[in-house]
Amino acid sequence: MTIHERRDLAATDAILQVEDVTKTYGAVQALRGVTLSIRRGAIHGLLGENGAGKSTLVGIISGQRTPSSGRITMDGRVLDHVDVKSMEEAGVFLVTQEPMIIDNMTAAENLMLGIWPARRGFVDWKALRADAARMLAGSGIDAGALAGRLDAVARRKLNILRAMFSGGKVIILDEPTAALTVADRKLLFDFMRRLKSEGVTFIFISHYNDEILEICDAVSVLRDGNLAGGSDDVAAMSSEQLTELVLGRGLKLFQRQRRDHAGKAPAVALRELRGQHLALPALDIAPGEIVGFTGLPGAGAKELARAIFGLYPARGRITLNGTERDLPGSPRAAFDAGIAYLSDDRRRDGAVGQMSIGQNIAMSSLPARMRMGFIDRAAEAAVVARYFGAMDVKAPGPEYAVDTLSGGNQQKVCLGRVLATDPRLLIVDEPTRGIDVGVKQDVLRIIDELSSRGVSVIIVSTDTDELVRAVDRVCVFENGAIKETLTGDNITVERLRASVQA
Ligand SMILES: Nc1ncnc2c1ncn2[C@@H]1O[C@H](COP(=O)(O)OP(=O)(O)OP(=O)(O)O)[C@@H](O)[C@H]1O
Ligand SMILES: [Mg+2]
Repeated sequence: MTIHERRDLAATDAILQVEDVTKTYGAVQALRGVTLSIRRGAIHGLLGENGAGKSTLVGIISGQRTPSSGRITMDGRVLDHVDVKSMEEAGVFLVTQEPMIIDNMTAAENLMLGIWPARRGFVDWKALRADAARMLAGSGIDAGALAGRLDAVARRKLNILRAMFSGGKVIILDEPTAALTVADRKLLFDFMRRLKSEGVTFIFISHYNDEILEICDAVSVLRDGNLAGGSDDVAAMSSEQLTELVLGRGLKLFQRQRRDHAGKAPAVALRELRGQHLALPALDIAPGEIVGFTGLPGAGAKELARAIFGLYPARGRITLNGTERDLPGSPRAAFDAGIAYLSDDRRRDGAVGQMSIGQNIAMSSLPARMRMGFIDRAAEAAVVARYFGAMDVKAPGPEYAVDTLSGGNQQKVCLGRVLATDPRLLIVDEPTRGIDVGVKQDVLRIIDELSSRGVSVIIVSTDTDELVRAVDRVCVFENGAIKETLTGDNITVERLRASVQA
């Protein structure tokens, strides 16, 4: 059995040790005496439900947040004062989800940016520049390339390299794969393995068991602010064991009873749709049908979804429940026609931080509850209670401000807000990205329930596992058009991957 308590703290191969760390935010106890050690040169996974305390823990390790109590030891030295500066000096760097990159500077200049504030006095710029160029050459990034032109993986790499360039020995990545394609993820993992062979230690947060199993040497699982368990030998663990540690129980994976909607009168009919990188002669969606849109970035899946909601310039006709009209020119018009949309850009279309969870959930469906200028408060409270509960939002109550929630829980609030609008056509883009494995099943179940009440659904997703479990039909996009449609038993992870990559 490989699941056991963390080994002796005196372990000589530990580079970083966390001892009895607690963190309280008012009434919320985010960490309750967490003790773990990170092996030098390992990739150490950190896993746990939304709100389990992962971001809080790495926030403390990197000095961004102050622990309420506890001790951190780096390289055998107990750090008596923990802040960003002292942790970076000790060699610990947190690479945030929003890469701090200056677009109009070159890749090499961005690397050296980390050094500027750190080293006063004499700096050998020439030597530095040569170092930067050498480091970049090994990573496949052109040193002279403008950072603004780099793609998602290159930007991610640049951030990791900058941390190393600034003396990073322990580099922390909090859900770094969230916005990456399968292929990009592989590139990032190859890159991490290479740096690991050069002696870098990583702490890696992810909600995906397969990623933990693929890249990590060791893993720790947090549950409700406690260390629930872990392993120094991830290779000996199964995905089921990981899930059980995360949830404290086994998991019943959701699987939709796929329905065949062929021949039914459509609830949604798209005709002659044209946009800059989009061409779709016709697409029908039946009432209660769930259709998946997938493909490589820019292939048209996301673009079509946005075009239907008036967010991507395109022309065409749409028939919704018997009424034919021009494609909505704005989200407002789309909303009025009964279309709801959840963007995958949670920063721009995300929750409003200072407002309460309840206000956020109720926001979009407000017009439906207005009676002669008054808000029907009872109806509002019912909607809030329903989605606060259904999404299992981790907070003491819906009156709490959204910016006190963990990342995944903020996302649940956004999804609740969209579902609460009671649409005829629901469009969700990457609905379970950043959501833990348990809640993911709940989200897929809620969408399934909506469809059984006749709502038509489009799920834009690059998560093949999610598509296989949740939809009746998948449209694979390429060059702005549907290249292949899979139905029934043909919807498998293998076929989807093959079709997307081909
Ligand atoms: N600034 C804050 N004020 C109040 N509570 C907070 C604050 N930051 C975090 N919390 C609470 O601490 C707990 C742990 O949150 P944390 O962000 O560490 O979770 P997480 O494991 O990273 O979750 P996720 O997978 O959703 O990102 C949650 O209950 C959260 O609501
Ligand atoms: Mg987090």
